Amino acid sequence: MSCLVGIDVGTSGVKALLVSAAGAVKASAFVEYGLNTPRPGWAEQHPESWWQASVQAIRELLQSGGGGGREVQGIGLTGQMHSSVFLDKTLRVIRPALLWCDQRTQAECDEITETVGFDRLVALTANRALTGFTAPKILWLRNHEPENYRKLKHLLLSKDYLRFQLTGEFATEVSDASGMLLFDVVKRRWSEELLKLLDLDPGILPRCYESTEITGRVSEAAAQETGLRAGTPVVGGGGDQAAGAIGNGIVKAGPILITIGTSGVVFSASDRPLIDPQARLHSFCHASPGRWHTMGVMLAAGGSMQWLCNTLRALDSKLGYDQLTALAAGTPVGAEGLFFLPYLTGERTPHFDADARGAFSGLSLKHGLGHLTRALMEGVTFGLKDSVEIMKEVGSEIREVYLSGGGARSELWTQMVADVLNLPIKRLKVDEGPSFGAALLAAVGTGIFPDTAAAAEQTLQLKDEVEPRREAAASYQELYPRFRSLYQALKPEFKNSAGDAA
Ligand code: XUL
Repeated sequence: MSCLVGIDVGTSGVKALLVSAAGAVKASAFVEYGLNTPRPGWAEQHPESWWQASVQAIRELLQSGGGGGREVQGIGLTGQMHSSVFLDKTLRVIRPALLWCDQRTQAECDEITETVGFDRLVALTANRALTGFTAPKILWLRNHEPENYRKLKHLLLSKDYLRFQLTGEFATEVSDASGMLLFDVVKRRWSEELLKLLDLDPGILPRCYESTEITGRVSEAAAQETGLRAGTPVVGGGGDQAAGAIGNGIVKAGPILITIGTSGVVFSASDRPLIDPQARLHSFCHASPGRWHTMGVMLAAGGSMQWLCNTLRALDSKLGYDQLTALAAGTPVGAEGLFFLPYLTGERTPHFDADARGAFSGLSLKHGLGHLTRALMEGVTFGLKDSVEIMKEVGSEIREVYLSGGGARSELWTQMVADVLNLPIKRLKVDEGPSFGAALLAAVGTGIFPDTAAAAEQTLQLKDEVEPRREAAASYQELYPRFRSLYQALKPEFKNSAGDAA
């Protein structure tokens, strides 16, 4: 029986998924790796660790899937977006990759905006310069490590480095290319004008495909290492958010997807590019050919929860996610006056502020662990509402909301999203994240389905729908403006703390 493989080069590890042509998950493997933070606000990983983890994950997958590499009809790749893999002329990695959550490039973002002009930048790329994006990372290399910059011959994104190892091809696809700030999102091709304005060599960029196109085939050497069959086609795939959206059936305009993973994302698809002149949302090409999407991105959604769990577990090894969320569930809506600002690593949407920091506000003697946890989850959920509100202003009519990621596995968090947005929330039966979407893209690319809409329709099933509770929704409506005003009040202090930590 023929199968597809989806591989996700995530922030905490590589996930590989074996999916049947009918969309049934047959096996999965996850291999973890760490994240280096050489300085506060920096986040790096070595691309070689992605490749080693992928080899192990693919081997485990093929062993547990039974049939081995012969059954695999196609491979789809996905991964954390915006990471900079710098290769020299001998095709070696020059230095560790700067990740999506790395905040070191504010000066380079300012340099880009000053050189190009804000309006021109939005006209050329549909986006504003943000610290996590790839172009400012190249400028950072040029400004801070000129000897490394001189060696730079090829630039790749995380999943595209995996493609290079698997196939020997330098290639990317439109959804991930959109997050590099070097891409003409409207025309779905590299922006020659921007590259010229920034004095960057177009020769360093990979060839760009649509996400379902075949970009190369597994080489003999990679087949030996992984157990895959030499010649297996590898399709473009997608950035993790676009691939995750395909895997949740968000292909066309209409429903939106909220994902609470390490980051928090509100995602909406469209049949034409939706460009906000203020670029308050990311405006990217979708992994569904001929479609686009907008999204708002929070840097630490589930990441805030991981921070709380890790911090408390260091004090008491019995305290974990389940204990904390049980305490939060027993705490009233609004956490009795306690608020949390979820900006532990700065924030993208809606503040675009690399210096923003987390804060609890309103602490009193009556507050305990349940309050801290509930306030944290509510703060993250209010942050997601910020993006939903901008989406409405930019013109999306929001009637249907799907929830995905780790947050969707929590009944408490799902109910909270329904109450804060005052909208019903849908969840799917299979929520395997971006790797599932990548496998569907491979299924389309190898002819199993005619297009991404058919792939989603024929493989996905609704699990449930959670209705908002009237009283809780009314309380959150009152609390939301108070949450909003806290960032404005604390903004000057965030600048000071960022200075202290530098
Ligand atoms: C999207 C983004 C994050 C990472 C996380 O713009 O930066 O969602 O892709 O993996």
